[in-house]
Amino acid sequence: MFSLFSQWKSNGGCRSLRSCIIFIILPILFLCYYILGNEISETWMSTVGLFLPEPFTNKSYYVAYPHKYSFIMNEPDKCQKENAFVVLMIPVAPSNTAAREAVRSTWGTERIVGDKTVIVLFLLGLPISQDNERLQEDLLQESEKYHDLLQSDFWDSYYNLTIKTIVMLEWLSTYCQNAFYAMKVDSDVFLNVKNLVNMLLLAPKQNYMTGRVSRIALVKRNPRSKWYLPKRVYSSFLYPPYVLGFGYVFSLDLARKLFEAAQLVKPVYIEDVFLGLCMKHLGIALTNPPEKGLFNVFPVKYNRCRNSKLIVTTTQSLKDQVEFWRDLQTPGPYC
Ligand SMILES: *[C@@H]1O[C@H](CO)[C@@H](O)[C@H](O)[C@H]1NC(C)=O
Ligand SMILES: *[C@@H]1O[C@H](CO)[C@@H](O)[C@H](O)[C@H]1NC(C)=O
Repeated sequence: MFSLFSQWKSNGGCRSLRSCIIFIILPILFLCYYILGNEISETWMSTVGLFLPEPFTNKSYYVAYPHKYSFIMNEPDKCQKENAFVVLMIPVAPSNTAAREAVRSTWGTERIVGDKTVIVLFLLGLPISQDNERLQEDLLQESEKYHDLLQSDFWDSYYNLTIKTIVMLEWLSTYCQNAFYAMKVDSDVFLNVKNLVNMLLLAPKQNYMTGRVSRIALVKRNPRSKWYLPKRVYSSFLYPPYVLGFGYVFSLDLARKLFEAAQLVKPVYIEDVFLGLCMKHLGIALTNPPEKGLFNVFPVKYNRCRNSKLIVTTTQSLKDQVEFWRDLQTPGPYC
């Protein structure tokens, strides 16, 4: 950005018509197009009465919170008994056994790094599929076998992910006060546990939240966007600064603070944006990771050298996740 500006100045600022168009007018036109395009589409679509599919109806943006949810499956002693340093909290749909198996057979097996203990827990709501009773029975068996499921009594759906996050904060602040850090991490990513622990050994112990930080982003006003937020739910045209939801890390003191803030902040269904709003409410700034690229949001091809250095990356598929991890376990130089 800076070098673009100096280039512009050395070109004689706005004196030449061409540089004026490239550096001033085009960006402004683009911004107008983007903002107006986003703002107008909602009104426009409802004016012409375009049919909006189910997820775009009014009701779906209502997050059933605050509300008292309770745990059906719990592991109340796990953090204390195992003297956790960092707790990996993995939201996953009840029916997604394959994702849980993938985690349990890859990075979920890395429970000790140096002298630090890592704990892995899956976070579930109630199944809403057709044969939910059978699924619930299977889940009980799975829980007895692995002791790594937390299940709360809200419906598990995309538009309820904010509830899942709040329930996670409640669980951490109730049962896990002795741990130092927690990471919320998606089940379909590649996670480098050793690098995570090494970063945390040097990290602040309080008011600390890091990951892939988004500082300025325009709110999606196009109802077709996956992250659409209507104005009546959230009126500002910018999201607050927030840490992208595929993998964020925070010091355990924040679990209680964020849980309390969550009772007061108007909920939005986009869970990471909601945490951004709670951090803003608390007046606590987000921390950038020590190096750029440690939290990689767009899936990229496997590269042994690069994967050995990062903390988390999204992947194209569960198969990739498993293969990335396996390859990094094989001996030989990384780079
Ligand atoms: C849409 O949701 C808002 C906020 O929850 C509510 O005030 C409004 O009455 C709802 N509109 C309809 C048509 O249901
Ligand atoms: C979210 O969960 C609550 C509590 O179970 C339920 O009342 C609500 O319908 C769910 N919302 C969605 C969109 O699934």
